[in-house]
Amino acid sequence: MNNPPSDPVDVMLVYGTRPEAIKMAPLVHALNDDARFRPIVVVTGQHREMLDQVHEFFGIAADVDLNIHSPGQSLTQVTMRTLEGVGGVIDDRKPDAVFVQGDTTSAFAAALAGFYRELPVVHVEAGLRTGDIWSPFPEEANRKLIGQLTSLHLPPTPASKENLLREDVAPQSIHVTGNTVIDALLDAVKRYVPSGDPALDAVVSDPSRRLVLVTAHRRESWGAPMQRIGEAVARLAREFPDVVFALPVHRNPKVREALLPHVSVLSNVIVTEPLAYGAFCTVMNRSDIVLTDSGGVQEEAPALSKPVLVLRDNTERPEAVEFGVARLVGTDSDRIYAEAARLLNDADAYAAMAHAVNPYGDGRACERILAATAALFGRGETVDDFDPSRQ
Ligand code: UD1
Ligand code: UDP
Repeated sequence: MNNPPSDPVDVMLVYGTRPEAIKMAPLVHALNDDARFRPIVVVTGQHREMLDQVHEFFGIAADVDLNIHSPGQSLTQVTMRTLEGVGGVIDDRKPDAVFVQGDTTSAFAAALAGFYRELPVVHVEAGLRTGDIWSPFPEEANRKLIGQLTSLHLPPTPASKENLLREDVAPQSIHVTGNTVIDALLDAVKRYVPSGDPALDAVVSDPSRRLVLVTAHRRESWGAPMQRIGEAVARLAREFPDVVFALPVHRNPKVREALLPHVSVLSNVIVTEPLAYGAFCTVMNRSDIVLTDSGGVQEEAPALSKPVLVLRDNTERPEAVEFGVARLVGTDSDRIYAEAARLLNDADAYAAMAHAVNPYGDGRACERILAATAALFGRGETVDDFDPSRQ
């Protein structure tokens, strides 16, 4: 904050998982292209292969990689390694601000490290709430804790801003930006990127085949709920042999143990490793329906007119549900089956959910984030908030 006006502001972006990397990537590029800023990219390495995949797609190389990943890592380990590691990097690089994104444990611990060094924390994708501290676990707590440490809150939507105002966050520290995930998506879907899996690529290229995309990974669904998701997909695959189910499966062994036994013998279920982001967008864009417990996918699929069945009991992203393009179906096997079967059997029910809406962004989130950050450092003016009703 004390830089002479001619010096660029050194902003340190810290992230560790696939979704944070996807949502930070357009911001890293935008900061790099703006002479007012000098970004420093610090990855914790909470995710390893899944994070590296994203960097490769976006052509980003980290300035610092804390490489904290270990198989079966606990929340405590991720927190401690990140807190200590990021603190050291701050001492070394002396940034002017720390940017974190969303609600992962990397984001929380990095925000705490920044706060302990008395730096302004900028929270991208601020203000998402379910109101239930146990769901999603530990993300709901992480996002609230980050909010307590933040100087500049950047909620994606007006509803997420309202959540912050209800928690008495100062209105002048809040700017509604839209979600950077839409900035990334609008660019990514311009390209056809093959997955490298011959069976999946053949289906993607054949317009006569119906395709359902499935992803699941949430910590609170490990064990029985995840098994019920697997059962539901297996039943759907048996009852709809003409439909193909694409299941790019998270690296977590707990997810694999629960899901795969149910589906791995079915010829119309294509199980793959996590898809590189570009290929995932290609598959999602070609899908008819999306079944997911992912936060990011809940934001992306509506922008591509894909009905979303959310495999959770609640969501911090109510906008798509309110627009009628997403439905909360929980993790009960019969309910998941019934809701998906209805969309596969009933063209009217399908059409009612398959229209493009973009409550999460308009592709200009990075521009608004840069403007709000420039204003924080006296280097420019803020711009208009993102307003989905004006699209
Ligand atoms: C984390 C985030 C979650 C986010 C999700 C995105 C927390 C607490 N959770 O959950 O908010 O939605 O990422 O996917 O921050 N693994 C690998 N290689 C990888 C990634 C994961 O082997 O590239 C395995 C490891 O065994 C690891 C396990 O997956 O122990 C779980 O990874 P972790 O980052 O701890 O939690 P996620 O469930 O991925
Ligand atoms: N994604 C991907 N490959 C996959 C599955 C998902 O690139 O095989 C992308 C997807 O486009 C979205 C993000 O990963 O942007 C979501 O990540 P995840 O579901 O792991 O985390 P969440 O969003 O739930 O935190």
